[in-house]
Amino acid sequence: MAFKINYNHEEIYINVIGELEDPKQAVELINLLSMSKSKHIKITFLGANVLPKNIVEKLSILQHEEKCTIVVFKRYLFSYLQCLGIKCRYVTESSTLGKPKESLPAEKRTLTKEEVYSFLKDLNTIYGYDYTEYQIDSIIRRINITMLKESIYDFNLFREQVLNNEEIFHNLFLDFSINTTEFFRDPDVFALIKNKILPYLNSYNHIKIWCAGCSNGKEPYSLAIMLKEAGMLDKTQIYATDINPYVIEEAKSGMYSMNTLNKDISNYRNAQGENNFIQYFDINRSYIKVKEELTKNILFFQHSLLSSGTLNEFNLILCRNVFIYFNDSLQESVLRSFYNSLDNNGFLVLGKSEGLVKNNGEQYFSRYDEKNKIYKKK
Ligand SMILES: C[S@@+](CC[C@H](N)C(=O)[O-])C[C@H]1O[C@@H](n2cnc3c(N)ncnc32)[C@H](O)[C@@H]1O
Repeated sequence: MAFKINYNHEEIYINVIGELEDPKQAVELINLLSMSKSKHIKITFLGANVLPKNIVEKLSILQHEEKCTIVVFKRYLFSYLQCLGIKCRYVTESSTLGKPKESLPAEKRTLTKEEVYSFLKDLNTIYGYDYTEYQIDSIIRRINITMLKESIYDFNLFREQVLNNEEIFHNLFLDFSINTTEFFRDPDVFALIKNKILPYLNSYNHIKIWCAGCSNGKEPYSLAIMLKEAGMLDKTQIYATDINPYVIEEAKSGMYSMNTLNKDISNYRNAQGENNFIQYFDINRSYIKVKEELTKNILFFQHSLLSSGTLNEFNLILCRNVFIYFNDSLQESVLRSFYNSLDNNGFLVLGKSEGLVKNNGEQYFSRYDEKNKIYKKK
């Protein structure tokens, strides 16, 4: 049973137990929320990290009508709803489970690379996520952040808890995944794609683009807008992937905060967008939602760049601001996989502070535009 329901004469209490993965459950919940009529609803999401688009929309309406109060147990869902302007109360699991909190240590110990590396090897053995070739300094920073959030100040205790408690590993996994992104991030790069790469790709009957490490979807939607303006969207298929399943769900929903709208519009203009940025969105009170026409040609799915299978025959791959988290040897193996995934004249776009130096990338790619980190398969 996905929900537990209790009534009294004034209120309905709905506890949603886990993730709402099955669309039928989402419809069931919508029906339940719609039936409540005059009663106030108190809905608690005990295990969900993300919610389907239709539930978020319904909650937003109910809240606007002051008909519901929302409580969430997952930090991720809390940030997501807050970001969309939907008010909710966050209850930490540790406060309800009575997990003892450690008192702050007198002095913070610096973690050694060796002990962290051995911890990462254990994480891979137990949970199947391999972070051993990520940049170790960045990993150490993320471990420190999770330890603080979990109020665990001793690394050995933290290590033991993570290896034995999937819930705490899950929080660490989310902290490892830095999802910062923007619409038309680094607009010059988009302008160059628009003026140089798209005219070239337009000679093909069918175009395949892979947006690897796409975060919550702003990057592939920016591409879709640009392709639409070039009259090329209908013949293009964009594959948009990320290791983090929750950002993929956010991307599928296509709902974004209004708070960054000024920056979005200015990026779009600087990328030489031809219309009005906002015309590609439905506008709600507190968030914007990508219009259906942009979503049709994008396939979002969870995929790790460390997995062995290649996706192939792409004309263009964007993998921006992901390599910064990888060490040189992992960058090289991912570059090899991109090489194998591109067609003979294919392009690769990396992030502004990334490139082919130190990772032996020059054996696979030649420079097309170094300033904008655009490369061509050799
Ligand atoms: C900083 S964001 C970059 C988003 C977007 N490409 C941009 O430039 O705006 C980095 C993304 O890479 C993803 N990532 C990290 N490791 C990955 C892996 N092994 N496979 C796929 N994606 C990964 C993270 O989850 C995160 O969403």
